[in-house]
Amino acid sequence: MVATEGKKGEDFVAIYEILKIGHPVLREKARVVTKFKTNLGRLLDDMYETMVAAPGVGLAAPQIGIAKQVVVIDIGEGRLELVNPEIIQACGHQDGLEGCLSVPGVEREVRRFDSVRVKAQDRHGQEFTFEATGFLARALQHEIDHLAGILFVDRANREGFREG
Ligand code: NI
Repeated sequence: MVATEGKKGEDFVAIYEILKIGHPVLREKARVVTKFKTNLGRLLDDMYETMVAAPGVGLAAPQIGIAKQVVVIDIGEGRLELVNPEIIQACGHQDGLEGCLSVPGVEREVRRFDSVRVKAQDRHGQEFTFEATGFLARALQHEIDHLAGILFVDRANREGFREG
């Protein structure tokens, strides 16, 4: 997702190019991560720096051309790393504007669940679950959608969006 406020990054590791809508990887189903080794930690660090530099508040691995189930989020409440994330419960709804680093310059209103319960693994493979509401819940749904090849414009409430 696109940042709503500017953020400054520090200790840059590697900044990836963010792929734009029309790139086929964005429409692929991302693969489950099975190896929790150093490379995964490096990918998460690089994704985080890429997101902060953009600036954005969320980034999914397919957005940098890696079709794996890896997501980073930071809506200003701390860094969240999610490997193989899944929404296991959801309730209520919220309508709000969304943007995406892969769809520059476009904002659309999207209806999302208001609260979600997510199961994921950390960079070491440790499973954890947590609940989120409001904007964090929105960011989670947006990023987890990326892993299924879904972009927010596919879910826009009103005006459609022509890809390519
Ligand atoms: Ni996005």
